[in-house]
Amino acid sequence: MAEKILMCRPDYYGIKYEINPWMNMNIQADNKKALLQWENLYSILKERLQVDVKLVEPEDDVPDMVFTANAAVMYGKKAIISRFRYKERQPEEKYFADWFNNNGYEVIFMPDNIAFEGAGDALYYKNILFSGYVPRTDITAHTYLSQLLKIEVISLELVNKNFYHVDTCFCPLSDDFLIYYPKAFDSYGNKVIERYVPAEKRIIVNEEEASYFTCNAVNIGKNVVTNLTTKRFSNLLKEKGFNHIQTDMSEYMKAGGACKCLTLKI
Ligand code: ARG
Repeated sequence: MAEKILMCRPDYYGIKYEINPWMNMNIQADNKKALLQWENLYSILKERLQVDVKLVEPEDDVPDMVFTANAAVMYGKKAIISRFRYKERQPEEKYFADWFNNNGYEVIFMPDNIAFEGAGDALYYKNILFSGYVPRTDITAHTYLSQLLKIEVISLELVNKNFYHVDTCFCPLSDDFLIYYPKAFDSYGNKVIERYVPAEKRIIVNEEEASYFTCNAVNIGKNVVTNLTTKRFSNLLKEKGFNHIQTDMSEYMKAGGACKCLTLKI
């Protein structure tokens, strides 16, 4: 069965505030280029990789709504809706919840006082939910998810402010491979990753690659879609049996995002 992904057209996308170190209101996104880059990603997924791409209607008061990875974390037909850290993104919660409600999903809200940013901060590796915390998600969200879904949740502290969502530095792939940037985690986090992921399954990006958001990848079967990155990384992927597709995400980097942030597997 085809993978299903939720995306949101960038009609109102822009750098309208600064809530992460990548955002600078003096460095605006070029709207035309942003639309083109989004459409390229959309067509790679839809045409080339045969993904069933669903679209949520963009809303004019939330320029970051394009980043659907932050809508919710999915568990089968359950969507556990984000509680955004910053008020600028909080109106998205209702828009995404409405979409899930209208499309046959069970909508679950986090308790009010817990910050949680959906699949931006929670990624399945095997059946374990690896979850980031501090910048955007509170560690209490991890306990809540683990009790709610009765699954194992592993907490990884994000220690580098440039990698403020776990999906900016950690990307599980098919066949239990993992792309990650070790320096985004503390020594405890690194030990945990090394314990769960065998050495031959780890695809480690270097500092330069991390800065292109290479870990922010969309994995469909044996295909991996990333922002433009190094030859070294492409070769690493190839050695592990993956096909690498690169597509320019420069306009989304200005908001602190790339390929994976613009998608949510549903
Ligand atoms: N400007 C957005 C924010 O700071 C970018 C979100 C990127 N999303 C992600 N899943 N990493 O919230």
